Amino acid sequence: MSGVESLEKEAERSEAAAQKASLLEVRDLRVWFDTPRGLVRAVDGVDLTVDAGRTLGIVGESGSGKSVLSRAIMKILAPSAQVRPGSEIRFNGVDLATVSPKKNKHLWGVDLSMVFQDPMTSLTPVMTIGQQLTETLRFHLNLDRAQAKAEAIRLLTLVGIPEPASRFAQHPHHLSGGMRQRVTIALAIACSPTLLIADEPTTALDVTVQQQILDLLQGLQQKSNMGMILITHDLGVVAGRADSIAVMYAGRIVETGPTRQLFAHMRHPYTRA
Ligand SMILES: Nc1ncnc2c1ncn2[C@@H]1O[C@H](COP(=O)(O)OP(=O)(O)OP(=O)(O)O)[C@@H](O)[C@H]1O
Ligand SMILES: [Mg+2]
Repeated sequence: MSGVESLEKEAERSEAAAQKASLLEVRDLRVWFDTPRGLVRAVDGVDLTVDAGRTLGIVGESGSGKSVLSRAIMKILAPSAQVRPGSEIRFNGVDLATVSPKKNKHLWGVDLSMVFQDPMTSLTPVMTIGQQLTETLRFHLNLDRAQAKAEAIRLLTLVGIPEPASRFAQHPHHLSGGMRQRVTIALAIACSPTLLIADEPTTALDVTVQQQILDLLQGLQQKSNMGMILITHDLGVVAGRADSIAVMYAGRIVETGPTRQLFAHMRHPYTRA
């Protein structure tokens, strides 16, 4: 076999492997922090899988490691975080540890996207809502100025922002917490990500809006076969929406399974509570 042929075969093989692989596979993920109080094992041996078009709900009490886990998947951990050797995060079969920083920029937004617990994490105070949305749209989707503006206003409407055209020109501090959270959701879904991690996406919102936003994400998922990780304190939020649920406690997944099964036989005290 010539060199070219074997390269082609190799490419076919890895493509086939990627087709078979789950969208996201996390194996034995450990993220530790050295702190003045001692070593914090924020994530301590987590395994999980998310398939395209499916939702994994992650529930767990405050401090159980849900946000550190999400940040590890997004590759945006604090510099002091140590990802322990042997930890593995595969996206479409590709080990994310091997992806270059330059490729990362394209991974974020288009492949992997996240709604942060604190809306100000993903919003820049010095730019208008419109600038932030259009910058993302132009960078990833090659839209021209007018197209990006039209798309940004469509997204603001989609997440339920009244008077989107005037909101477009405002800075984040002009918006209420709930409105800011909707903007971060618009930003996160702007480029139709393959996998969306939503970290407490609706805590700042009242119950009716919560349902609307979750319906919106679910609709998007059905349209584009997006995989989703939905993180919450509230089992009620994921009960009707997640295909499977993982319960985190002290950095570990203490219980996991298809949603219906988990509700039928809850073992861990946290889940029962
Ligand atoms: N940058 C950091 N430095 C040191 N410790 C950290 C850091 N970030 C998180 N931790 C610790 O890691 C643990 C897990 O935190 P994490 O934010 O993931 O919890 P969580 O499950 O998201 O909680 P919540 O439900 O309140 O959002 C906590 O003990 C937290 O104090
Ligand atoms: Mg958190």
